[in-house]
Amino acid sequence: MKVVAVNGSPRKTWNTAKMLESALSGCRDAGAETKLYHLIDLKFKGCTSCFACKRLGGLSYARCGMRDDLTQVLNDVWDADALIIGSPVYFSDVTADLRAFLERLWFSILMYNREHMIRAPKRMPVKIILTTNAPMEGFHKALNESIINTMTGFVGPAELIEANDTLQFDDYSKYDVSMFDVNAKLKRRSEVFPLDLKKAYDMGKRVVEEAEKI
Ligand SMILES: Cc1cc2nc3c(=O)[nH]c(=O)nc-3n(C[C@H](O)[C@H](O)[C@H](O)COP(=O)(O)O)c2cc1C
Repeated sequence: MKVVAVNGSPRKTWNTAKMLESALSGCRDAGAETKLYHLIDLKFKGCTSCFACKRLGGLSYARCGMRDDLTQVLNDVWDADALIIGSPVYFSDVTADLRAFLERLWFSILMYNREHMIRAPKRMPVKIILTTNAPMEGFHKALNESIINTMTGFVGPAELIEANDTLQFDDYSKYDVSMFDVNAKLKRRSEVFPLDLKKAYDMGKRVVEEAEKI
């Protein structure tokens, strides 16, 4: 049982990464082997519309034909039993890096074929973690719905959790942040973020059970 996670945050030790690590620790406690990719470490582009994935008789039919650091990640995803993705919300969307990953993951299995619109190698459960400065769950409702629906249709049953009102810097006194109530931010970090991490851990355990049933 293998779970692959993809971090779309440029920060490898901050909110999104912590949520992903907690989820993966739940996966390992449930008996899975895990692998975490930080997209910021990789050199890759979004879909370049080469259409190699749709070329009849082509070597990359229904797979991404581009060759760069994402090739290994995509191969690993399709070799896994479950997928977890994480991203901070940037301007009501996922980050540019995660978007590029999703373009390549989704478009390569989307066929312009009346009978077989999706040609994924397999179905697997998908968990999505979003972290936001916005104070409450569902603030970016359109994003949540669109990513859950596309993932469910293309890859497998998807579930999304959020960590909201995250701490953005270690020391708020060093930045121009007069719109924030710093004490409320710090309070939330110590009281609510640990619960968010537990939510991610439980989801990690759950995804392994779900993957066993697919
Ligand atoms: C470029 C940029 C755009 C952002 N846009 C939003 C946004 O639209 N909505 C929101 O709730 N938070 C937004 N944020 C805040 C981050 O999503 C939030 O702090 C997140 O937890 C950071 O994740 P990280 O700690 O993994 O980097 C933005 C942050 C940055 C740097």
